[in-house]
Amino acid sequence: MPDIIQLLPDSIANQIAAGEVIQRPASVIKELLENAVDAGATQIKLIIKDAGKTSIQVIDDGKGMSETDARMAFERHATSKIKSANDLFCIKTMGFRGEALASIAAIAHVELTTRQAHEDTATKIQMEGSMLTKQEKVQAMPGTNITVKNLFYNVPARRKFLKSDPVELKHIMDEFHRVSLANTDIFFTLHHNGNEVYHLPKSNLKQRILGVMGKQMNEKLIPINQETEAAAFSGFIGKPDTAKNSRRTIYLCQQKIYKKAII
Ligand SMILES: Nc1ncnc2c1ncn2[C@@H]1O[C@H](COP(=O)(O)OP(=O)(O)OP(=O)(O)O)[C@@H](O)[C@H]1O
Ligand SMILES: [Mg+2]
Repeated sequence: MPDIIQLLPDSIANQIAAGEVIQRPASVIKELLENAVDAGATQIKLIIKDAGKTSIQVIDDGKGMSETDARMAFERHATSKIKSANDLFCIKTMGFRGEALASIAAIAHVELTTRQAHEDTATKIQMEGSMLTKQEKVQAMPGTNITVKNLFYNVPARRKFLKSDPVELKHIMDEFHRVSLANTDIFFTLHHNGNEVYHLPKSNLKQRILGVMGKQMNEKLIPINQETEAAAFSGFIGKPDTAKNSRRTIYLCQQKIYKKAII
């Protein structure tokens, strides 16, 4: 029998690997929002068109990237967040795999403009199907501005299986709620098809919950604050009439677990 095993071309391997990270527009939004949080942003703007199927843009005022890092960021397993296996046990960032941007660039058209505060100019990069198609120096504010267009343009089967706009939008809202509730010191906005859907200035947790879930929750929130030997808990729970029959509106954010409990 002849040998039948072949190495896949990089382009196909990249698309397959991308499928593990990116299933729908909401996965792109999760990754881009988390990158902006990790970059120390104080303001994050999310702008989407057609439930993210046409375009997803995230603008942050975080630390930005150097020219070389802006290109490196799209390589697989390229990250500034860990250096060794030991770092895996004390991760303080939301990302660490160095997978997200490489995955997104494999299955979409990506434009990235980024500037570090101490630099005079920004770097603008365009990627298409994992290939760098353009790089230039431009004027821009410090921070990072990334636009992802035509998601799954080169994986028609995946594009076809995207759900209706309202369903995809629901997944996007879940991600936006999750990240914005966990980062109350960041000013978030969300625009969909030209309309501002959320405007969430830096605030305390209660104000952020009301901003995300609606002012009608004001009378319905019960503060909880409990400190035990193992862990400290704080936050809010809803009164019984706000209960839902799913886990979708339960958000947990690890704050403090005492070493004693781990040993
Ligand atoms: N908005 C941003 N501002 C500044 N640097 C960024 C931004 N987005 C990405 N980067 C840089 O690009 C690198 C690659 O990003 P990418 O999201 O692919 O990987 P990661 O965040 O390190 O890990 P993960 O794949 O788990 O998200 C990051 O480690 C970071 O250094
Ligand atoms: Mg990331």
